Amino acid sequence: MKKLLIALVTLLPSLAMAAGGHEVDLESANVDLHDKASLERGLDLFQHYCSGCHSTQYQRYDRVATDLGISTDDMRNKYMFTDAKMGELMENAIPTVDAAKWFGAAPPDLTLVARVRGADWVYTYLKGFYADESRPFGVNNTVFPLVGMPHVLQDLQGLSVKDEHGNLVTTGGSMSAEEYDQAVRDLTGFLVYSGDPVKLEREALGWWVLGFLFIFFIIAYLLKKEYWKDVH
Ligand code: HEC
Repeated sequence: MKKLLIALVTLLPSLAMAAGGHEVDLESANVDLHDKASLERGLDLFQHYCSGCHSTQYQRYDRVATDLGISTDDMRNKYMFTDAKMGELMENAIPTVDAAKWFGAAPPDLTLVARVRGADWVYTYLKGFYADESRPFGVNNTVFPLVGMPHVLQDLQGLSVKDEHGNLVTTGGSMSAEEYDQAVRDLTGFLVYSGDPVKLEREALGWWVLGFLFIFFIIAYLLKKEYWKDVH
């Protein structure tokens, strides 16, 4: 009986998901946090196309510069559009109340979005805008129905239209489909990094810890042998 209960409780969340119905298949973001050039391109896109509305306010400019190997000059000249200082948080200038009025919802802070939603969700979301005349900005989104955000990357991607099978057909746009995928992967990578900036450090630290444990094990073993050698 107890076992059955436990099995039921473990199953419940997946049952609830299944009952949710219109779950959309997410595409795999495949981000590579070790590819700093990709993360820097992501930062570039974010600052140009997103930071007007969204903040990453748990991140500081100088921290991002250090982590991604960007010089102070480059950070200031290429990626900072306000008179913020290097040590300041990456906030934006849109007042939340106005933004909520303009878009029906305030643009949320995106520092943690890749952790909350998952990288694949963010990736699919950025590819998922399609034309829908009934919406205020003329677009809807496959993973975020009735989204309040305009398709800010339309110049790059072009505009998608749903065909009779519900597939997206995209035309226009300055980038090829592959280039756009890469751009969105870079952007998603930057957001994954933002949500967990110490991840790379932690991985490196992990190897030191394992190394220490290994050496310590040898010492402990030799010590044990020494202590027990006269005991019979
Ligand atoms: C013109 C303002 C504006 C710009 C520019 C903008 N967004 Fe948004 N974004 C919004 C608004 C408003 C919402 C909230 C939508 C809603 O709740 O309906 C949103 C929501 C989101 C969400 C969903 C967050 C969540 O978990 O609910 C993500 C992810 C996102 N934006 C990413 C981006 C990225 C990446 C860019 C740059 C390529 C960008 N946005 C540019 C206004 C904007």
